[in-house]
Amino acid sequence: MLNVAVLISGRGSNLQSLIDACASPDYPARIVVVISNNPDAYGLERARLAGIPTSIVNHREFEDRISFENAIDDELKKYKAKFICLAGFMRILDARFVNRWKDRILNIHPSLLPSFKGLHTQERALEAGVRFTGCTVHIVRPEMDEGPIILQAALAVDPEDNAENLSAKVLELEHIIYPEALKLVAMGGVSVSGNKAIIKKATYPTEGLISPKPLS
Ligand code: GRF
Repeated sequence: MLNVAVLISGRGSNLQSLIDACASPDYPARIVVVISNNPDAYGLERARLAGIPTSIVNHREFEDRISFENAIDDELKKYKAKFICLAGFMRILDARFVNRWKDRILNIHPSLLPSFKGLHTQERALEAGVRFTGCTVHIVRPEMDEGPIILQAALAVDPEDNAENLSAKVLELEHIIYPEALKLVAMGGVSVSGNKAIIKKATYPTEGLISPKPLS
């Protein structure tokens, strides 16, 4: 069983998808703590409702990023977390922190990376006139929204779409692929080779995913 900490800043719908997945008895991970930098994050309420310990590490109360991240590390140790899922966590993590947790941090991003890193992804996708958009679960590297891709899901852009409804459609896909990606990792199905994640064929999800084929 993989002990996971989920880091959030806001509404926590991806956190909810992970909570729901972990409720299934054969899911290979469990959430040991939800940490938020924002005391008002609705995700904290979701964690409490699910009986998961919560911790607020408010970046505003720290002198610099290093001491903020050291405080997060203390919480991770306290709850014996072995893995981190970023789920709408809106602080950039320093390279020192990321390297301490090398290959043990996942992030979900609402675009088909490496396109449209950063914020307002669907607005920019529409402006660029792309025909497909989607979401990506990747292993975190110090550079923002970079790192080995584990799963992606794509959908066709409808000419009638606006940023708001496109974001809602992409969010539905996020809620499918984040628990799937964490499951793959927790089952030992993912290895990293250079800047690519390799997924073992035997562990690759067969149902309900619009995603890449296994690489090995
Ligand atoms: C999601 O769109 C996620 O891809 C991005 O931030 C948003 C968080 O939403 N990283 P939620 O808090 O999980 O509802």
